[in-house]
Amino acid sequence: TANRPLAGLRVAISIGGTREPLDPVRFIGNRSSGRQGFALATEASRRGADVVAIVGSIESHPPRGLNSIRVGTALELRDAMLSEAQRADIIIMAAAVADFRPAVAGEHKLKKTGPDQGETVELVQNPDILAELAGSRRDSAQVVVGFAAETGDASASAIEHARDKARRKGADVLVFNDVATNDVFGAANNSVVFLDGRGAELGAATGTKADVAAALLDVVQTLRSAR
Ligand code: C5P
Repeated sequence: TANRPLAGLRVAISIGGTREPLDPVRFIGNRSSGRQGFALATEASRRGADVVAIVGSIESHPPRGLNSIRVGTALELRDAMLSEAQRADIIIMAAAVADFRPAVAGEHKLKKTGPDQGETVELVQNPDILAELAGSRRDSAQVVVGFAAETGDASASAIEHARDKARRKGADVLVFNDVATNDVFGAANNSVVFLDGRGAELGAATGTKADVAAALLDVVQTLRSAR
């Protein structure tokens, strides 16, 4: 119907950061607050979707009544997403997944070895969950969405990095935000550009995270209706 355009559809969305353990008390984490993901979950439910959220570390309040699965590490998030993806019509990777994890998570707390002694931690790469999900769709109508927070550097501007990433990951929509010009972490507002799998612009949105969520779901609905 007109005001419940996602009725009958299932949305699986990952939200928040991952925590990669170094030892029983320490981890490598990131600054994802979960706000943009929660705004998306709320808006998708309002539009009639059946939403399941896979939630890592967060610094914001989940909306009341959200159906959620809590995860810690990137590997746990991957397991949950791959399993939920089987039933999902729309997949949104809004989580900030750690690209690397410590090669070994010590069973015992790391100790200082002496005064002025440094420590080296070996990291190994985590699997790219978004690329895996985009490469293993259950059917051609399934829409896969990712996020890309970028900064420009000497080799390319922020959006050029995002266009490259869009081509590499193969998602239907990559939501790009420039984190150098945009203090997005934990903030109420966001400013984004939607890129397709070839790096071409599908649209843009600026406003509250709820406004950005609504604009993204409009893009997703347009894609689905074209399939
Ligand atoms: O490569 P980068 O971390 O910038 O990519 C961002 C997008 O890819 C986000 O949608 C994030 O959820 C996803 N991602 C992933 N698995 C990783 C790293 C990122 O699914 N290991």
